Amino acid sequence: EKGTYPHYMLKEMDEQPSVVRKIIQAYSNADGELTIDDNILEALKQADRLYIIAAGTSYHAGLIGKQYFEKIAGIPVEVHISSEFGYNMPLLSEKPLFIFISQSGETADSRQVLVRVKEELGYPALTITNVPGSTLSREADYTLLLHAGPEIAVASTKAYVAQVAVLAVAAYVAGKAAGRELDMDLKQELAIAANAIQTIVDSKNELEQIAEDYLKIARNAFFIGRNLDYYVSMEGALKLKEISYIQAEGFAGGELKHGTIALIEDGTPVFAIVSQEQVALNIRGNVKEVVARGANACIIAMEGLEEEGDRLVIPKVHSLLTPLVSVVPLQLISYYAALHRRCDVDKPRNLAKSVTVE
Ligand code: M6R
Repeated sequence: EKGTYPHYMLKEMDEQPSVVRKIIQAYSNADGELTIDDNILEALKQADRLYIIAAGTSYHAGLIGKQYFEKIAGIPVEVHISSEFGYNMPLLSEKPLFIFISQSGETADSRQVLVRVKEELGYPALTITNVPGSTLSREADYTLLLHAGPEIAVASTKAYVAQVAVLAVAAYVAGKAAGRELDMDLKQELAIAANAIQTIVDSKNELEQIAEDYLKIARNAFFIGRNLDYYVSMEGALKLKEISYIQAEGFAGGELKHGTIALIEDGTPVFAIVSQEQVALNIRGNVKEVVARGANACIIAMEGLEEEGDRLVIPKVHSLLTPLVSVVPLQLISYYAALHRRCDVDKPRNLAKSVTVE
């Protein structure tokens, strides 16, 4: 039930800090250490390569998951869009493990891949889903649950945050089990991220104002970032287009000069995320390029990397966990942009919560 909330989406965004805390709890053992099911850990150990398969927002979470498994656990990963994988299958490694990420666990595009790789080719599969007993969960060998509680709004918010957090936990536990030197305490870092998300959901007035200032009369909008911020840009653009119907594109800052910069006009809104220290200067360079062509740039920077003129500063979290936090202002900006345009926030046109046709 949405209770006193005007929309499920708003309620679900507000739930995000508690979802992260719930995940910490659900994946902690009696000694208080992060853990996952032994069989899943073994499957990750056995695999020589992970193939993450997903659609939409879940695909965007998968892109972040790739970095986690590669950097934290040292396992090579490919990420594929479900609907493309079926007819464009890459050469597979010898011991692949397929990971399906799906909030609903019912996405037909993902299921057709699962049937093919598991039933026809006999490879093991793990589903990361919010819905116990869903089709993808039942048909895979293993399941990791998101523990996000029912997500009703068509626009996925808390499930994305949960997916990123669960992927981090799985990669971390696998990395530890493999004896890798990990210079982070993930449990503590996730708790810090939960607090950071809380700070952002408590800044609704500011985010509503940003939506008003940048998107009120916009016909299109761009989201740019580098490294992990690039993936979050893609998610920010998807959120905005699906609920406000503003044409939006998220892309890597370095790609601007390879084409997209031609679209920048006087007043074009450009949202730039600056949370990755090693590329902060480069993305700021991109912002200068678009501003010189008239763009209305909104810089969202992480504490410690902020500069004068940035529109929003988000609390500092571990550099690998920034997507959990930087996505939240983009969700809220999209929400308010849609609201200002009197769009049906929870049930955008032409979309269904779970896409059960291919
Ligand atoms: O249930 P799933 O995670 O498999 O759904 C995948 C996409 O349909 C979904 O993420 C969609 O892109 C959302 N509406 C995005 O907000």
